[in-house]
Amino acid sequence: MSPAAPASGESAPAPAPAESATADWYRHFGTVDAPGNSACYAAWAVGIAEDAALIQRIAKWPYNKRQPLLMLAAARFLGARISPYREFRQFLDVHWSDISRIVLSRATQTNEAGRCATLLPSLAKISADEGRPLALIEVGASAGLALFPDRYGYEFRATADAPSGIAGAVTRLSPAGAKPGTFPVLRCTTAGPVPLPLVLPRVVWRAGIDLNPLDVRNPDDVAWLEALIWPEQDFRRERLRQAIAVARTEPPLLVAGDLNEELLSLARQAPADTALVVFHSAVMAYLDARGRERFRNTMASLARDRGCHWLSNEGHTVIIQRDGSSVVPEMDDARLQGRFLLLHDGDPVAIAGPHGQSLEWLQRPTS
Ligand SMILES: C[S@@+](CC[C@H](N)C(=O)[O-])C[C@H]1O[C@@H](n2cnc3c(N)ncnc32)[C@H](O)[C@@H]1O
Repeated sequence: MSPAAPASGESAPAPAPAESATADWYRHFGTVDAPGNSACYAAWAVGIAEDAALIQRIAKWPYNKRQPLLMLAAARFLGARISPYREFRQFLDVHWSDISRIVLSRATQTNEAGRCATLLPSLAKISADEGRPLALIEVGASAGLALFPDRYGYEFRATADAPSGIAGAVTRLSPAGAKPGTFPVLRCTTAGPVPLPLVLPRVVWRAGIDLNPLDVRNPDDVAWLEALIWPEQDFRRERLRQAIAVARTEPPLLVAGDLNEELLSLARQAPADTALVVFHSAVMAYLDARGRERFRNTMASLARDRGCHWLSNEGHTVIIQRDGSSVVPEMDDARLQGRFLLLHDGDPVAIAGPHGQSLEWLQRPTS
């Protein structure tokens, strides 16, 4: 796994010798990644970092399996409840062989439907500009929940940084004909001139690629998706359940494989009379530099040969720009810390909350 860390704490720092590096990794997670997201995970991870016997056991796993979020999610999957570290430690002792089994067989694949809120304005604009419905391909799709932007509700609330006249304004959108309560409502604060649509765009074809697609009809996969949500974040768990209920009504086509191997053949299946959009969120950190370059080249050939849009929604440390550089030169790094950058065809258009909770537009909408 790449050393570039997304804001969701899902990837690994650079490899280093076993035990002290493992302890440092858990300490970093407990003091930097978890606070503000989960007091429970913060306390557990710091407790683990200081627990030499446990660190020894964890350090026996392959490097990328020592990832704190993976180990903690495995414990949650097996029923660990929010509790003081001492109680959690007893749980680990009792369930250690099962925890090892889960850690070795699963991966961090958090699927966050909330990210549709930060993709929606771009998707709607693409469809409106082209005057055609959308065909969507998500690479690194997990269970494919972000493939349903037309089936969710939205509540965009303009902050004080919104253009004058609209600060505080709330824009609500919902899928035509759907009964309230049958879809999640994704809440997102906005700043800058976000081109909010009046209606949801029409999606006529949707598909995803993942190394290990999760199946919304499989109870074990659903339980794993729930376990990946940080313990105190009940609203995200509820949103996940509602999004899964939507996806179950029409499970998406998900291809198992490497995004670099599968994208071109999948794109050939998209109906010709559609605006094709390939997008990804929180995925590029899993690829090494060569994999990202290959993907960039594939996107260039797809744009040239078929015509396609590319939305990249990633932590700023792995951002790919047109020229191949990985930073946004004109932007203060602190503005991006812990957030994602949204790029449309390689150009930065917005800074987004990592779970879709905020959207700051960077440029005036054209036309
Ligand atoms: C953190 S999850 C994000 C899932 C989804 N994009 C979202 O925003 O909710 C990253 C996903 O990328 C997938 N992935 C990582 N590397 C991949 C590759 N080379 N090809 C296809 N999928 C990959 C993982 O299996 C995982 O499901």
